[in-house]
Amino acid sequence: MKTEKISELTTNRLSVYLRCLNELAAAGVETISSQALAEQFNLNSAQIRKDLAYFGEFGVRGVGYYVNDLREHLRQILGLTRDHRIAIVGAGNLGLALANYQGFNLQTFQIVALLDSDPGKIGSPARTGLLIEDVQNLAEVIRREEISIVIIAVPAVAAESVLDEATAAGVKAVLNFAPVRLHPKPGVKVKNVDLTISLESLSYFLARPSATGVIVDYRDFLPTEDATENGQAQSAG
Ligand code: NAI
Repeated sequence: MKTEKISELTTNRLSVYLRCLNELAAAGVETISSQALAEQFNLNSAQIRKDLAYFGEFGVRGVGYYVNDLREHLRQILGLTRDHRIAIVGAGNLGLALANYQGFNLQTFQIVALLDSDPGKIGSPARTGLLIEDVQNLAEVIRREEISIVIIAVPAVAAESVLDEATAAGVKAVLNFAPVRLHPKPGVKVKNVDLTISLESLSYFLARPSATGVIVDYRDFLPTEDATENGQAQSAG
């Protein structure tokens, strides 16, 4: 692997390539060229080759990529060959919806803890049967459940203190839904999710007089290299 810093945009694209390869594997496709991969999923073949070249030589001359081999490589590069145990803090509308969602990659991402501060909720189960625990025990739950990712789904005013407690207990990856910019911490990756950004992008599309038809495109998941990337520990979306 090349030593230069791999941008988050590159890793986002690797995730998209993996999704495409999963579809191909499910359809029984065994090999594919970067050109065909690009054409089928509306990607950019030069970008695919450039992104993959950071991590090694995966293409075979005259064949292209072996779909299953490349999937496995991407899973390793993205750290998806190990389990990630997740705690959700905030068992409100959003926290419960996420806890009950069955669409995550369940082999890799397991929601194993759900915490709240409301005494009326503590001790009651989510639909999956997971019991809501007292957020005062967050550090203990993080250790007990070997949590590697915390999802923050509390009101904005409470988000920073949840981040503080989670990181003090050793968590290094946080997905924040609260509409507040959290203070970066060394060695901790905070990703902010803001659906408003997606809605505003749709609004922009609808505001164009030429908006016609509906385009569902894998490029929707692909920020280009010239998109803003601040290089900080946090990133939007
Ligand atoms: P909600 O009010 O239904 O749930 C919040 C939950 O957090 C409640 O159960 C409350 O008891 C709990 N809570 C409050 N303080 C806490 C603390 N210190 N520790 C643990 N739990 C605590 O709110 P909802 O609708 O579930 O939204 C949750 C958060 O997600 C809000 O910040 C909201 O603005 C945000 N949100 C963000 C979206 C996005 O696009 N990023 C979309 C929807 C919600």
